[in-house]
Amino acid sequence: MCKTIGIIGGGQLGLMLAEEAALLGARTVCLDPAADAPAFRVANSSIAAAFDDADALEKLCRQSDVITYEFENVPSRLLIELERKYNIPQGFEPLFDAQDRVREKRNALANGLQTPQFAEVNDEASLLAAIEQVGYPCVFKTRTLGYDGHGQAVLRCAEDIAKVKNLIDTPAILEQFVPFDYEASIVMVSDGKDIIHFPIGRNVHRDGILDLCFVPAQMSQTVQNQLIAGSKEFMRRCGYRGILAIEYFVRGNQVLFNEMAPRPHNSGHYTIEGCTTNQFRELARFLLGKPLQSPQLVAPTVMKNILGEDFDVAQCIAKQGLNNVFVHLYGKTECRPKRKMGHITFVGEEAVGTMAQWDFAATTNPQK
Ligand SMILES: Nc1ncnc2c1ncn2[C@@H]1O[C@H](COP(=O)(O)OP(=O)(O)O)[C@@H](O)[C@H]1O
Ligand SMILES: [Mg+2]
Repeated sequence: MCKTIGIIGGGQLGLMLAEEAALLGARTVCLDPAADAPAFRVANSSIAAAFDDADALEKLCRQSDVITYEFENVPSRLLIELERKYNIPQGFEPLFDAQDRVREKRNALANGLQTPQFAEVNDEASLLAAIEQVGYPCVFKTRTLGYDGHGQAVLRCAEDIAKVKNLIDTPAILEQFVPFDYEASIVMVSDGKDIIHFPIGRNVHRDGILDLCFVPAQMSQTVQNQLIAGSKEFMRRCGYRGILAIEYFVRGNQVLFNEMAPRPHNSGHYTIEGCTTNQFRELARFLLGKPLQSPQLVAPTVMKNILGEDFDVAQCIAKQGLNNVFVHLYGKTECRPKRKMGHITFVGEEAVGTMAQWDFAATTNPQK
């Protein structure tokens, strides 16, 4: 019998999940506030409503056999209520743990991971105390609702405090600025018994937004083993099921937890063509109660995010039909600078070698 997956959130993550679900013979119903949400084009049915619209969420759940989320800020109180009545196998817990940066880091520390030094900030006095504790340079981030570098500022000296004056009464976290060698991330899927993981990505961010993801990640075997073992142990200890992505800072042999997301992750987009199975398919398999498959990397792969400023170049690349260069455009109706409009995956040395010929808005950083 054909099952229906309910997806809370209709962005590009929902779009790619709906595509994979369809390939596995499932239907999808998707909820998003934007009438032109990317996932609405491929979901079997859609509900245009706010994420805090309890009736609309209930409607989505009633139409679904199993429910997941691709949007991270679904109000916990609503999700907890729904979890009692409907089949939401990931539950509210990983989402709840990820929704607040202080809670998220305390949870990471309590479950075997290391984090940068941090302190809680609620007002000017606690900001000054936090700076005293953490020292300069440091990073101020709002505790909730941040993404793609929004609500963040690097403070290098006392004068920089002015940068966060307008956020001073917003609950925040102050973190040590980590002079990392590089950033890395891992995507895992757990069925409650086994955990599969995708090859680690080595990530380059620009202005707080993921720009490039290189796989295999150039890193020592020691760091790789530590990162994989620590991530799996963390997921097991937390008792999370379904999909979980973790972002890390790596410095020497030190692996520091930055943040996590219990949903498909931008750094996992390369898996669609770069691996034998991908993050969306394995999430769908988990949701549908099918056994998980362990992914293998097909060839060295690079994923380049396409923000608004690179949309024209991406369209131009799409027209070329180059071998092993896969252009994904999410069909967003409005193209804005810094908005994620698509991504391109270059699979294999030869395709990766063609990247340099394109005039992307900023110079791409090769993996050192
Ligand atoms: N403590 C830190 N030290 C150094 N760089 C940081 C720190 N925190 C964040 N950054 C940089 O900013 C990027 C975005 O921050 P992150 O905490 O991942 O928030 P978001 O939710 O916006 O992705 C990171 O990937 C990293 O490049
Ligand atoms: Mg991040």
